[in-house]
Amino acid sequence: SITPVLLCGGSGTRLWPLSRKSYPKQFAAITGEETLFQASARRLSGEGYGVPLVVTASDFRFIVTEQLLAAGIDPGAILIEPEGRNTAPAVLAAALHVAASDPEALLLVAPSDHVVPDADAFRAAVAAGVPAAQAGQLVTFGIMPDRPETGYGYLKLAGAPDGTAPVKLDSFVEKPDVDTATAMLADGKHLWNGGIFLFRACDIIAAFETHAPTLMAPVKAACEAATTDLGFLRLDPEAWGQVEDISIDYAVMEKADNLSVVPFSAGWSDLGDWDSVWREAGPDENGVVAAGSVTAIDCSDTLLRSEAGNLEVVGIGLKDVITVAMPDAVLVADKSRAQDVKKAVEALKAKG
Ligand code: GDD
Ligand code: MG
Repeated sequence: SITPVLLCGGSGTRLWPLSRKSYPKQFAAITGEETLFQASARRLSGEGYGVPLVVTASDFRFIVTEQLLAAGIDPGAILIEPEGRNTAPAVLAAALHVAASDPEALLLVAPSDHVVPDADAFRAAVAAGVPAAQAGQLVTFGIMPDRPETGYGYLKLAGAPDGTAPVKLDSFVEKPDVDTATAMLADGKHLWNGGIFLFRACDIIAAFETHAPTLMAPVKAACEAATTDLGFLRLDPEAWGQVEDISIDYAVMEKADNLSVVPFSAGWSDLGDWDSVWREAGPDENGVVAAGSVTAIDCSDTLLRSEAGNLEVVGIGLKDVITVAMPDAVLVADKSRAQDVKKAVEALKAKG
């Protein structure tokens, strides 16, 4: 069976003020009833999947167990990172943990902040990638791009896709600048990297040994000296302190030459910022998304959202605006500046 590795250690700063350091977006219900994390865990449960391995921060360990139990999913093992070091160390620690008992185990590494409405289609795409993964490939999932997004990785196909069969990759480019992204969108040879990976534990460990050898010793040491704490497996803080902060995309994927992609076209969205939440929520004919106790009068291409009980939020004549009201903070931003919300978080942090 496939072991889901759920990454949920990020703090989702671009979705402030809904996403907070103490309660990031993946643990909030943003578009549906379930939280993004619960939906991600459910998508990777059932036939063919084993209990998940969750990699997260210490602050989130109880939220994780609580939300899995509430969703009726066996929590399995939970690896705690003493500090966030981005996705490369998190994935390597998970792979080493699983490889200790089964080096050939198939891992499906998934973020926990995506929206994938058709879970069956997603599991079918994963199944389509299994033979390639069993043959030693690092399998990615490719999304048809529709804009020159600079927040994603781009997968260059070595040949034309044929249905849902995995295609070999020529190269992987993480977060290009806008000119490069525009060129890659135009040439028709690129897909977005969905941020979801399928491989055997032994193959990703070998890839780290080749392409990111300096991560190996400290991550291994952090796993070997891990302590068990109320059923959580806490990686050793001293060893973890020596680990470089880097994403798996930069550390391994941009360098590896055994990459394949399974095209996935059934709907996928990384709810990374308010612009994508607006897009995903299904704007009305004027482009308005109104959520909570809000009233929009003559607005267009605007998101109005109130999570502040019965605090009424009224927009009049707004165009391209994002307004999100929480009980203790209100965001009002130009919609084209959705990426800059993380600057607000930094500014607030600096204020203390
Ligand atoms: N456990 C753990 N520890 N999880 C982490 C950490 C960490 O230090 N940092 C990030 N994560 C989790 C996030 O919570 C998220 O679920 C996932 O790992 C991916 O991290 P992001 O920070 O959201 O990555 P990204 O969106 O900028 O880029 C990745 O995803 C894109 C698609 O959504 C890349 O893989 C891109 O190539 C890809 O296009
Ligand atoms: Mg993301």
